[in-house]
Amino acid sequence: MNRLVVVSNRVPTASAATPAGGLAVALDGLMEKRGGLWFGWSGTVVAGAGTNISVRHECGVDYATIDLTQEEHDCYYNNFANGVLWPLLHTMPELIAYDRADARVYRQVNARMATALQPLLRPTDLVWIHDFHLLPLAAALRTRGVTNPIGFFLHVPFAAADVLAAAPEMGSLVRDMLAADLIGFQSGNDLANFAAAAELFAGARRQPGNVLQVEGRRVRLGVFPVEIEPYDFAALAARMALSADVERLQRSLAGQHLILGVERLDPTKGLLQRLAGVRRLYARHPKWLRRVTMLQIAATSRKGVASYRTLREALDRETGALNADLAEPDWQPLRFVSRAVDRALVAGYLRTARVGLVTPLRDGMNLVAKEFVAAQNPDDPGALVLSRFAGAAQQLDGALLVNPHDPDAIAEAVDAALGMSLAERQERWQTMWAAIEYRSPIVWGRDFVAALLRATTIAAVPDLGLRSVTSDHAPPPPIGSELVLVEPRRAPPLLVSERMPLN
Ligand code: F6P
Repeated sequence: MNRLVVVSNRVPTASAATPAGGLAVALDGLMEKRGGLWFGWSGTVVAGAGTNISVRHECGVDYATIDLTQEEHDCYYNNFANGVLWPLLHTMPELIAYDRADARVYRQVNARMATALQPLLRPTDLVWIHDFHLLPLAAALRTRGVTNPIGFFLHVPFAAADVLAAAPEMGSLVRDMLAADLIGFQSGNDLANFAAAAELFAGARRQPGNVLQVEGRRVRLGVFPVEIEPYDFAALAARMALSADVERLQRSLAGQHLILGVERLDPTKGLLQRLAGVRRLYARHPKWLRRVTMLQIAATSRKGVASYRTLREALDRETGALNADLAEPDWQPLRFVSRAVDRALVAGYLRTARVGLVTPLRDGMNLVAKEFVAAQNPDDPGALVLSRFAGAAQQLDGALLVNPHDPDAIAEAVDAALGMSLAERQERWQTMWAAIEYRSPIVWGRDFVAALLRATTIAAVPDLGLRSVTSDHAPPPPIGSELVLVEPRRAPPLLVSERMPLN
């Protein structure tokens, strides 16, 4: 089996608990099952030039990391990745704080990562790069002579080209992404936006089967929605619902329904708009005063980025105002927690909630929405109110889908969720559970890796027309269904195995 080399900005550290967030949730289990090398930033900022690579081995996985200097952390991570790319890719250009010096350091850090990674690679490794921190890495590796199959997966949305154009580097970053053999997205909308940007910025030509023809090469695009382990999470939630901490929360509710939101404190999550929706709920439906409590966990994140600090200040004002306006001596409508809460405890809280309120303005996937579904008691499930702009909305059509910008829509959906009959809650939950029940991060990873092998096969064959690559009679099938169709004899000698069992 070929070794899998995962590259991501964040790498789980030996000392800290698993880092929160979709990428870690998706990759941790996969790497534990499959083994391999995980390369990225150590999480440490050092005073001088951080050139040393630290390597450690744990549970079948080699972790290789480099430190960042203070300047690199500021310019690459805070200013360009989180201050420019993050808002742009989420279609929030009004939040960007652009400086071309940051873009330069972003590229330098990617180049340094490529230089550090290249000697660690073996000829038959499969390289899988993750997320917006590392858009130029595939090209940087190619420049250093790396010919291994390279896949890239974007965990966040990909915005329309005219939005992206606000950052002058975006054209060259799209061209660099095309150095990969396979580029994966969370949704068909993200894929379509990328394909259009590749046409515009790189002169790529679209071919059937989500193939881009660019400079004599073929690059495959695919949709791979990130998943959770639904049964594991369901068991965790059921167990944690009986824990002392969760029972304490339940007692504190004194019979009220719980409306729950859980995320990082991030401008894309629509937190202020959500609070406006909750305020509107109490105004339009005063019957819920004293009968429900909203708990919002918004874990402080990316404090080095100005827009996050500004949001925190605005939230402090609004949470204070909402409680001051509506609270009574023995009741308060909102509890707001900015500490990070342990994921196991969150599972128990999710099971306790009557309403899960997940209303990002834009989100690649949003795994909390899937975790809310998995956490529910099938006999008495809560209802999910979900932004139609989260990738998860494509799969969870049993949720009450809302426009997160519209406080009235949020208020009406929460009112409907709170008043929903048991039969309707069960029916909606069954629909959502069926959408996630048979999926998992392991299957997600296996699908991507198999598609990467397939994409490499296609890219390696000279430009003779796609039919000669996959079949004599048909265009290539969409990614996912094509995995068994290409004959192994057509694979380039580099590939050790065509099928990639993960355990
Ligand atoms: O996909 C977005 C992501 O990279 C996720 O892994 C996670 O939700 C979050 O961003 C982590 O952010 P950071 O590494 O900046 O704390």
